[in-house]
Amino acid sequence: MKYEFVETFLLAPRALCGPRLATSHSRTPEVVRVSLLEVRDLDAGYGELQILTDVDLDVADEEYVTIVGPNGAGKSTVMKSVFGLTTHMGGTVTFADEDITATKPEDVIHKGLGYVPQNDNVFAELNVEENLEMGAYILDEVPQDALRMVYDRFPILEERKDQKAGTMSGGQQQMLAMGRALMLDPDLLLLDEPSAGLAPDLVDEMFDKIDEINEAGTAVLMVEQNAKEALRRCDRGYVLVNGQNRYVDEGDKLLNDEDVRQDFLGG
Ligand SMILES: Nc1ncnc2c1ncn2[C@@H]1O[C@H](COP(=O)(O)OP(=O)(O)O)[C@@H](O)[C@H]1O
Ligand SMILES: [Mg+2]
Repeated sequence: MKYEFVETFLLAPRALCGPRLATSHSRTPEVVRVSLLEVRDLDAGYGELQILTDVDLDVADEEYVTIVGPNGAGKSTVMKSVFGLTTHMGGTVTFADEDITATKPEDVIHKGLGYVPQNDNVFAELNVEENLEMGAYILDEVPQDALRMVYDRFPILEERKDQKAGTMSGGQQQMLAMGRALMLDPDLLLLDEPSAGLAPDLVDEMFDKIDEINEAGTAVLMVEQNAKEALRRCDRGYVLVNGQNRYVDEGDKLLNDEDVRQDFLGG
């Protein structure tokens, strides 16, 4: 999908067809807000090193969006940039109509953004419940309703609430990291490779949990190596290559596109 059509596309997803190459940057200026998260012309990197160039990205309220692409494409860098963890070099990040460009993580979480990083996403030395409580550290008191909701969503966490996080399996740690991010009941949850390193049956379970979270009203922006499954499940997908947008379209359309399959989905 070409970039000037993104906003139109979000308003009328079924009106357009066929995955489009992301080429031009001219966009219609008179746009009603349709995006919860709106990334425009983002340039970002680490120190002097620029990784992202002119990245555009939208996530609508309650939408489920996936970013796929080769290793090193900059997918994690996009997530980190939204969360204020990279060097900002240009462009804007808007969340719920507020400019949050280069806003620090400790400020971003107040605004309804939750982030589960790709690595080191639990406090290994703390037990499960302490990890969850840390998710709400910005509040004066632990929100008991949120804790209840997390335990209902992930019963294994309640069963193991006194266990040290570092002694749990990869899948359980991933669920804990997700649970922690849900403690502030975010409007948008950023998930970086939630299925990484999980056994195949756990991968399905993880994706099912993400579906449930999204169906309960939380928008999701997810990076996944398991690209086919991610595109099958999401509403829309982005293919990122070399720090730049390459394709954007409905997940199914990307999944069935000859070029996308050939180049990015292993045929
Ligand atoms: N902290 C960092 N400092 C310097 N370069 C980094 C850092 N993190 C990632 N990179 C580089 O940024 C590029 C994109 O990385 P990343 O966003 O992790 O890709 P992906 O998530 O798509 O695999 C890679 O070349 C990687 O080496
Ligand atoms: Mg990554």
